[in-house]
Amino acid sequence: MAPHVIRIIGDPVLKQRASDVDRVDGSFVKLVDDMFVTMYDAPGVGLAAPQVGVQKRFFVFDHDDDPGVIINPTIVESRGEAEFVEGCLSVPGLHWEIVRPAEIHVKGYDLEGNELDLELDDFACRVFQHEIDHLDGVLLIEHLTDEQRKEARRALSDLRMRHLAPPEPDIAPGRLRLI
Ligand code: NI
Repeated sequence: MAPHVIRIIGDPVLKQRASDVDRVDGSFVKLVDDMFVTMYDAPGVGLAAPQVGVQKRFFVFDHDDDPGVIINPTIVESRGEAEFVEGCLSVPGLHWEIVRPAEIHVKGYDLEGNELDLELDDFACRVFQHEIDHLDGVLLIEHLTDEQRKEARRALSDLRMRHLAPPEPDIAPGRLRLI
């Protein structure tokens, strides 16, 4: 069983801005390890601390078989536009085509306190923007067009009112990697 329960849309913890990590100690390293286990169990390729109820600015990722953690990340520059089918572990069963910048320059720190300085594009760029949004209390719902938003409200209220299990994504298995 995963060490943490992933918080789902409607949980207020997902709407709060997380605060900077100011201390990396043994219990923090344990939390990071537990987040990896929770992410792989889901399964997902990115998981931000607020998704397990921790209001701190870091996330774990493994979108290209090269797992990592980034602490106190900031986007220092973003360029272009790209559309991508995006789904979130905290919004089960739903996904949308979402437009975001195509390339970003990100800075942050690793567990050893080394500075990370990353130029990202393609899926990595999408994962990092999505997870940094989680640290700011923003869910992918807030990036939808008006039309998508109407549809999303309907789908979400259906789930709540009928206590339905989330639908299986109507997309080829393996194509949608949750973040
Ligand atoms: Ni997410």
